[in-house]
Amino acid sequence: MRKNIHDDIERILISEEEVDAIARRLADQINRDYADSSRDLVLVCLLKGSIMFTAQLMRYINMPVEVEFMKVSSYGSGTQTSGIINVQLDIKRTDLGNVDVIIVEDIVDSGRTLTKLMALFKEKGVSSVKTCSMLDKPSRRVVEFKPDYCGTEIPDLFVVGFGLDYAERYRNLPYVGVLKPAVYEKAVKRNI
Ligand code: IMP
Ligand code: MG
Repeated sequence: MRKNIHDDIERILISEEEVDAIARRLADQINRDYADSSRDLVLVCLLKGSIMFTAQLMRYINMPVEVEFMKVSSYGSGTQTSGIINVQLDIKRTDLGNVDVIIVEDIVDSGRTLTKLMALFKEKGVSSVKTCSMLDKPSRRVVEFKPDYCGTEIPDLFVVGFGLDYAERYRNLPYVGVLKPAVYEKAVKRNI
């Protein structure tokens, strides 16, 4: 029988209700900030981690909005973080001259991914680019970076759920939680 993923969670850090409140609050801010813009508003959902949060956020945006998907990796296969961003899947829209972009992220850690992406979108020639992150771990910062829209700050913990994964699993949890240490220990034994 398949296991129940909820059993692997030590504690819930951000409940379903809290994630929903974050999405509503940030969408309200976006609704206010972009109300007077005549440009196209484009949410860029960073795969795979921000699928759930992008979906929740856009439900509360009350203006016409487009959604694009992008997949980047800022880490090599090793443990060393790299400053180089690798675009694995780019957005489909090419006419970006009259566009307000909001990059939607699950969590800001070192700050490298969003710093690089902001520069990339400016190079693409968009009218404006801002960032919106469900979570932020400011104590982990390597480069100075502050998301324009920030859900909530969390301590230096590895979290899963609501899009966030551990070894590609747990993204489907409806809340953000901390894994039981035994889960990592088992994974180390299985060498994954
Ligand atoms: P950074 O800000 O460039 O270091 O990268 C942020 C990315 O690291 C996020 O999009 C996640 O994919 C990943 N990440 C950072 N912290 C966590 C965590 O606690 N759980 C799951 N993924 C994380
Ligand atoms: Mg990610």
